[in-house]
Amino acid sequence: MQTKKRYRRAYEKDLPLLSTINNKIDGIIRWCTPSIHPAVPKARGIYDNDISISYHGLGNPSLNTGIFKEAYQKAAAAYGSDHTLFSVNGSSGSNFMVLRALKHQLGGVNMLLQRNVHKSISVAIEDFQIDATYLQPHYDNKLQIFIPNTTKEILDGLRENPRTNVLLITNPTYEGLSINLSGLVQEARKANPDLIIFVDEAWGAHFPFSKKLPPSAMESGADICVQSTHKQGSGLQQTGMIHWQGNRLSSKSMMDSYKSLLTTSPSFHLLASLDGTRYLMETKGGEIIDYLLEVSDLLRNGLDVLPGVEVVNPSKLKRQYDQIEFLDESKILVNIEQTGLTGYEIAHYLEKEYRVIVEKYEANNILFLTTFQNNKFEAKETVKSFRHSLQDLKNKKKSEKPSFPEFPTEIIKSVPSYEISKNKLKAAGLEDAAGKICAEDIVPYPPGIPLIAKGEEIQKEHINYLKALKNTSGLISVVMNDYNMRTVLTVDTS
Ligand SMILES: Cc1ncc(COP(=O)(O)O)c(C=O)c1O
Repeated sequence: MQTKKRYRRAYEKDLPLLSTINNKIDGIIRWCTPSIHPAVPKARGIYDNDISISYHGLGNPSLNTGIFKEAYQKAAAAYGSDHTLFSVNGSSGSNFMVLRALKHQLGGVNMLLQRNVHKSISVAIEDFQIDATYLQPHYDNKLQIFIPNTTKEILDGLRENPRTNVLLITNPTYEGLSINLSGLVQEARKANPDLIIFVDEAWGAHFPFSKKLPPSAMESGADICVQSTHKQGSGLQQTGMIHWQGNRLSSKSMMDSYKSLLTTSPSFHLLASLDGTRYLMETKGGEIIDYLLEVSDLLRNGLDVLPGVEVVNPSKLKRQYDQIEFLDESKILVNIEQTGLTGYEIAHYLEKEYRVIVEKYEANNILFLTTFQNNKFEAKETVKSFRHSLQDLKNKKKSEKPSFPEFPTEIIKSVPSYEISKNKLKAAGLEDAAGKICAEDIVPYPPGIPLIAKGEEIQKEHINYLKALKNTSGLISVVMNDYNMRTVLTVDTS
């Protein structure tokens, strides 16, 4: 017995990651990515059958030849595009590939975009010298979520920036909010028929397979979209797809970019797993999503009656914000403000005591993502665990819940981000930074939306917000050069 224990301890010490993956994941209830259906046709023999392009029988993924070409074509038919490629670096890699393709095709890219972009986009903007104009964002300070811009605001943005040749829309948002994309596409095309509409659909890989979900980017007439198949589309971690249609995006530029940025040795198992995903969703997607939504309803209704808990009602949210046309109801946003606890405390307690994992949490809310592996038993167990967690935590509660400032939304752009590195930079004390040009992206998590992007003017409101965040005892982490938030990197004008 002792020997066994000693052996296990040594195994955990010598192989920390491997032993965790092998031993600690089984049995957890997870309401978070990846969403993988148990019946998805699986790539077998991840070690024994690992293979490279030296085996000519397969073709080459980055050249779109052989078996890969066949798999990509089948995916294009299933996801409603003219062309599809598989990614092994999630939507992060796909966003980079698409923006590189656009840069090479257009020479100069003038892009209009919403503020809630993923960091892969802001990094690509800088690296490919893209002129980016952010629309003024909307932020719901009670729910602590980003609300999309209205169609009118986007069209006004296009009118005010007549050089725009690419419109980037992140749809749906992290919380599953979706705009009337087809309406926007039609209106935007009336104003500029050549405008390239690129949708970051990282959270919508399941959309093409059910009418109960928001319409997909391809169905809505966008030119290009990227999807994280691993998030909600039954793909393994890392997997994603790029879809495009029509001829506004040059297929030659896209293929060239794919060939240039895809590793020369992608895992063929990951690529093959996307073939399995496509088959499952194409043949059984409708019924799988029906069940997913039933599980989601069970969890939603069970949580909603717990004391102090308010599950965000999709219809109510739609009434509150006109621009929200559809909601992905597999996402369950739970406001816990009235419990006197923070989302952070509850989420950590659920994980530690009940092995229930949520997608994300903030001060006032918790987001559950119903996945393809969840079932009704897990929904009921989670409601029970949540109820017990509330009771336990209230009994232990010592400190007051910290208050949160409003998220500043005004943007004053001074310099494109790619110009920043040409200047002398200086770390300015937080108190002295107002009026200076920010030389770094400052991103509080949550909400994960840049508070200030590189090249924008630092305002008094930003400083007040950062100062308030310092008092949240680690509830919110801020991604910036100085993690202690004492200094901000600025352009030195002295
Ligand atoms: C809107 C959006 N785009 C892109 C990404 C990157 O996706 P991936 O993790 O597949 O690289 C994310 C990740 O959360 C995202 O939220």
